[in-house]
Amino acid sequence: MKRLVVMVSGFGSNLQAIMDACRRGEIQGQVVAVFANRKAGLERAREAGIDAVYRPLKPFKGSPDPRAAYDEALARDVAVYKPDFVILAGWMRILTPAFLRPFGNRVINLHPALPGHFAGTHAIERAFAAWQDGQIEHTGVMVHRVVEEVDAGPVLATAVVPFEPGDSLERLAERVHKTEHRILVEAIAGLCAPT
Ligand code: GAR
Repeated sequence: MKRLVVMVSGFGSNLQAIMDACRRGEIQGQVVAVFANRKAGLERAREAGIDAVYRPLKPFKGSPDPRAAYDEALARDVAVYKPDFVILAGWMRILTPAFLRPFGNRVINLHPALPGHFAGTHAIERAFAAWQDGQIEHTGVMVHRVVEEVDAGPVLATAVVPFEPGDSLERLAERVHKTEHRILVEAIAGLCAPT
């Protein structure tokens, strides 16, 4: 059983998909802790009896390099759980090498766009606007290993999400999230499969 630490900033629907897949045995792993820099997703972990750790940036704001200090402390706290993989499931803070270095290539990110497209926040909204402007005909989602560059790095899984005639942002977002839940679980299952 691989040990997974999941990090979230938002609602936690992808965290839920991971926990459900572990419970059903689709992922041969267990979520040993959930870390959040905003509280919203933590309740899901607590309900499942999983350690839920809240780590806001605020206490680090006084230090000379708040981001590095925060990332260093976060890496130390995450490492206590001895994760095989650290899964960023809607983690919306850019991680510096101070966090990434200790975990090598074992930090995995989900991004609601295809490789090389719409890095950063509001990717779904920006893809929708690009479709409305006639620039793209489909968008998608990807799961990748994390490198220093934001929403880039070796790709583990992708899925295309087509636009539909008369599409709305809400409907697109719903399809993107449904697709995310599927490919994130598939990618983690692949990583956790016995070799
Ligand atoms: C997901 O759409 C995920 O791809 C995105 O945050 C959302 C979290 O949803 N992540 C990024 O944009 C990373 N750049 P959730 O909290 O319901 O899982």
